[in-house]
Amino acid sequence: MNNADIRSPHIKVFATGGTIAGVAGSATRRDYRPGQIGIDDFLGELAAMGIETALIGSQFANIGSEDIGPALWAQLHQATTDALADDACRGIIITHGTDTAEETAFLLDQTVSADKPVVIVGAMRPADAVGSDGLRNFANAVRVADDPDAAGRGVLLVMSDRIFAARDARKAHTEMTDAFKGFPRGPVGHVTPTSLEWFGPAWRAGEGARYRFFEDMPKVSILYAYAGMPADNVAHALDGGTAGIVLAGFGHGNAPRGIRDALADAVKQGVLVVRSSRVDEGLVDREPEDDDAGFIAARALGPARARILLQLLLANGITDPARAQEEFSRR
Ligand code: SIN
Repeated sequence: MNNADIRSPHIKVFATGGTIAGVAGSATRRDYRPGQIGIDDFLGELAAMGIETALIGSQFANIGSEDIGPALWAQLHQATTDALADDACRGIIITHGTDTAEETAFLLDQTVSADKPVVIVGAMRPADAVGSDGLRNFANAVRVADDPDAAGRGVLLVMSDRIFAARDARKAHTEMTDAFKGFPRGPVGHVTPTSLEWFGPAWRAGEGARYRFFEDMPKVSILYAYAGMPADNVAHALDGGTAGIVLAGFGHGNAPRGIRDALADAVKQGVLVVRSSRVDEGLVDREPEDDDAGFIAARALGPARARILLQLLLANGITDPARAQEEFSRR
C-alpha cells in the first residue's frame, strides 16, 4: 500500500524481509518464519496506527537476512542511489533481518552519499509475538527518515529506541530487543514515535560516496582464531583465489605464532591481511609486528565490517597496506 504520489514529498521503503516481517502463527511458539508479511500489509498496519507520513513501499525480497548478499546488495545500492537523486524522496528506509543488518548498513554507508537520511530497521520479535518490537522500530525509523537533521550522518540503524551509525553498529545479542550496540560510539541519537533527539551534530555533512560499489567484489575470508589453531588454517582460507584475509583474532587481534607467520607469508604473496578481534569491543591498533609483516589493524571495526571494507578497498584498487591502513583509521 502506497499512501503517496511519487511526485509529492515521500519516504521510500525498501523491504527485504527478516523478523520484522516474520510470523510465528502463535504467541507461544518459539520458532517462527522471517519474511512472511509483505510491505503493503505492513504499511497498512502503520496507517491504522495513525502514522500519516507519505510512504512508498517496494518489496525487494522477503527472506531471512542470512541469505542476503551481493545480488540483493546491488539492487538496494541502485535503488538507494536513484532515491537519493529523486527530488521528491526525503529519505529511505530499508527493512532488514537483524542478523546481517550490520553488513548491509556498512556497505551502503560507504558507497552512497550522506545527503539524505538512509535508515535500516529490523526487529527481534515476529509481528505476532507478545511484545513485538517491529511496528515500534518502524515508526521510529519513519521519524528518523523524515528528519532533515538525519542527513549527513551516513547510513543509520534504528532499533529499540536507539539510533546507531552504521560505522559503529553491530548485533551483540541473539534474542533481546536491544540487540544492537555501538562502538566506539554508542547510540548517536534517541527516538520514539513521539520524540527524536540527536546526541551531537552531523559528522558527514556534504560527503559523497566513499567508494565505488561493485556487485562482484574480490574474495575476502574471515579467519576466526581459537586456542591451538594450526597454521594450515591460513592455507585453507587462501584456497580459491582469496585476495584478502580478516583475522578475527584473540584480544587485541592476536593469533598463534604459526598463524601469524603464515599470514605474513600470505602478505608477501600480495594478499591483504587485516587484524581484527573476536572480542566484542575495543580498538585493534597497530603494533610493531604490523610494520614488519605488512598487516593492517582493523581499529574499531569488528570482523564483519572489516571484511566489507577490505573488499571495497580491493575493488577500488587500494592494495597498498599503508594506504589501506589510512582507510581503516578513517571515521
Ligand atoms: C534475520 O536476520 O532475517 C532473522 C533474524 C532477525 O531478523 O532478527
